[in-house]
Order: sequence, then C-alpha cells, then structure tokens
Amino acid sequence: MSNWTEIERWDRAYYLHNVQAQADYTFLAVDRADGNFIQLADGSRLLDFQSQLVSDSMGHRHPAAVDAVNQAMTRYGHVFFGMANEYRARAAKLVIEDVLAGEDWPGRFRVFASGTEAVESALAMARLYTGRPVILTQAHSFHGSTMGATWLRGYRNSLNPGDDLSRVVDVPGFPVSGYIPIPPPEPADAAVEGVLPSITATESIIRAVGAENIAAVITEPMFGAGGLMPHDGYYPALRELSRRHGFLWIDDEVLCGFGRLGEWFGYQRHAGIHPDLMVVGKGINGSLLPSGGVVAAKAVAEYFDRARWWSGSTWDGHPLVCASIVGNLEYMLENDVLGQVRVKGERLRAGLAELAERHPCVGRVGGAGLYFAVDLVNANGEPIVPEDRYTGFTGDLGAHPNHLIAAECARHGVFLGGFVPNTVKVAPPFTVNDDEIDQGLSALDAGLSAVDRRYA
Ligand SMILES: Cc1ncc(COP(=O)(O)O)c(C=O)c1O
Repeated sequence: MSNWTEIERWDRAYYLHNVQAQADYTFLAVDRADGNFIQLADGSRLLDFQSQLVSDSMGHRHPAAVDAVNQAMTRYGHVFFGMANEYRARAAKLVIEDVLAGEDWPGRFRVFASGTEAVESALAMARLYTGRPVILTQAHSFHGSTMGATWLRGYRNSLNPGDDLSRVVDVPGFPVSGYIPIPPPEPADAAVEGVLPSITATESIIRAVGAENIAAVITEPMFGAGGLMPHDGYYPALRELSRRHGFLWIDDEVLCGFGRLGEWFGYQRHAGIHPDLMVVGKGINGSLLPSGGVVAAKAVAEYFDRARWWSGSTWDGHPLVCASIVGNLEYMLENDVLGQVRVKGERLRAGLAELAERHPCVGRVGGAGLYFAVDLVNANGEPIVPEDRYTGFTGDLGAHPNHLIAAECARHGVFLGGFVPNTVKVAPPFTVNDDEIDQGLSALDAGLSAVDRRYA
C-alpha cells in the first residue's frame, strides 16, 4: 500500500516541478492508470478525455504494446545504435512499408527517445541537406522545450564524406540564431476565399529573409498546445511556397500522427502533398514508453546515406521502445483503428456541434478525427481572456475559462482541459466507447454552463 502522505511530502520537497510555480502546485496523485481511466489516490476515477497530453492514444497500458514490451524484455534491455536489434528493423519496416503503404516519398525512419529530440534531428537534417541556417516556425506552434545541446560540444551533428577532411560540414548556423516566426494560419484566414492572408504574409517574410537562407519551414497539422485547426487551403499553399522558394517542409506530426485526425498523418488530409521530413512521437506507441521518430523523404535519406553522420543518442532505436512501436502499430493495422477513429470522431463531432448550439460561450469548434478544439468567447463573441493564444500565463489562472471547465469536468469524473486560456482540447483515446464519449460530452456540458454563467 502506498503511503501517499509521505509521497506527497517527497514530491513537494524534492521534485523540480514545471508549469506550476511551487506556490500554485496541486498534488494530483495518480494511483494507477487502466484503459481509458485514471485512478486517483483518493479512490476516485477519472475518464481520460484528453489522453493525457493528447498522447496516450490507445488508452493506458494497452495490452498490445505492453505484451510486446514484456516479450522483448525477455531478450533485450538496451542495445546501442551501433548494433542492430530486431525491433528497430521491424518498427522501420512497419512505418515505411505498412503505415505509409501506397506513398512513394518515404525513404528512411529513425527512432528517438522523445518528440523533442526527433524535432532537433529534423532541424539539423534540413540544415545539413540545404546548407542553410534559417528555420521558419509558426506563431502559436509547439515543438519541444530543449535548447542548445548539439552546440555544446565538438561533434555538431557534423556530416563527414569519409575521405576528405576539408569537406566535413557542421550543421549551418553556429552560433545558433535563425528561427524566424511566420504568422499562425488562423484566425485571419477563417473567412477568406482565395489567397490566405497568412500565406501572403509568409511570402513577404520569405522575401525579406531571402529564400537562399532558409533551410525549412516547420509546422503542425493541427496545433497541439495552441489548439488551432488551420484553414483547409493552408497546407497546400504553404507546400507550394516551400517548393517554389526551394526550402524543405518539416511536418511535425508528434501529436497528430498515427491516427489522431482520422488519417494516419495530418498531411494526408490534403490531396497531393507530402513533407520532406516528418517528425513523429506520442501516438506511435500510445506513449507507453518515451518515443519519437523522423521519417526522411527518399531524396533526403539518400543524401545522408552517402555520409558518415556524427549524430545520435544513447537511446536511438532502443529495443524496448521499438517493441512498443511494433506492438502498437501491428494492433492498429490489424484492427482498423483508423476506421474506428473516424466513426467515433463523428459521434464526438455531432455532440460538440449540439453543445455549441446550446452554449453561448462556445465560439469556434475546430478539428477532425478524435481531436477537437473548442474556443470559448464572451457575450460579444470575443476571446474571454483577451491575450488568447498570446497568453503569458499571468494573473489568476484559476479564472481562465479552460480551468473552470477542467474543475467542473473533474467533479463529473472526467479529465479534460486545455493549455491556452480560452481553448478546451477534446481528445479522448481511440479506445473510447460510445458511453464514454457521452459521459465526456455531458461533463463538458456542465463545464460550459459554468463558463456561460460567469462570462457569457
Ligand atoms: C507537435 C509537437 N511536437 C513536439 C513535441 C515534443 O515532444 P516530446 O514531449 O515527446 O518531447 C510535442 C509535445 O507535446 C508536440 O505536441
């Protein structure tokens, strides 16, 4: 039996917490997590209607991934990247040949220990491939929280042709600079037909920076932290810009990849486009173990094939992480989980539309598959917290509308909330059933009533 009094004391005294200041810190103790539910230490149970950080897409401890890891553990612990392990090869084959079946752009796949690390690797790859330093990045997007590790030592992700010392290249851009924001795809694009304002503004930035300096643009299909679904015309137009100006497109699918939006990957919602580098994580193994990955398009992969590339981490291609990927993806493929996401997503979409009709505080509902963002507005139809997605997370966060929703949902036995103040992120696991969808919607209904009473 866990001694939660003692655990709370240790947690409060010694753990280096994030997001909440020590004075704000709430000790929300989880005793265990099973399927779609989280069991709290006080004995209550919460339906996880946000899949933690829109990450645990197959519920908690799905047997397909758990069994695969347990089986792998009878043979492997850790094996470093200089030696091959069975699961690494199987994971790569599954991603390139099976999940991406029918697509002829993907070349190679590498497994990392986090989405952040995979993003870092994609940025380095884009810079090495193009020989240019600048990365364009969307306002409101999120791609991880590390800075600088690769610049702290001698081997700066260098690319070595193998025969000529003078041709060894470091990742361009040292000392680090060169992250240039482009406008978010919404809300200016929402009401527009024809050329989108965000694309026009992005092209002006490209001209000002000089396309010859730009390695890549990195984007999110539907924003995770920002909870923003771009206009349908946005990605085709951005891809066209990247082609015309000759820089790469890095598609960060860490949050949306592997089914969240009702397609294997968010870019597949748009006909005729694909990225040059695709970053994945979270849903690849339902977040059972820390994971991330990069899929490189053939041309990019072939460029790296010709070099000795001094990159890597102790955990690259970790056998147990790869086993969890194999177990999870084989299950998803064999059980048509993508089809299930689409069907369940329609029930969720209809329920949210019905709530939007009844609650004046609901502004826009955007999303697809099993990921929807509900924007909350005041009686004038404006964001309740005026800074909206430009929030600095200052003042009384408890008064933020999404916190009111979270508190009310918790009272109804549902874990659901958001990140930016006016947006609720509805993202249940793909294993959710109809009754649970209805339970989540009814908790949200109560939460929206609380916001209506206070703000609308
Ligand atoms: C789109 C996106 N990219 C990258 C990351 C970072 O991934 P990780 O938390 O696995 O390092 C996240 C995490 O939320 C994300 O949502």
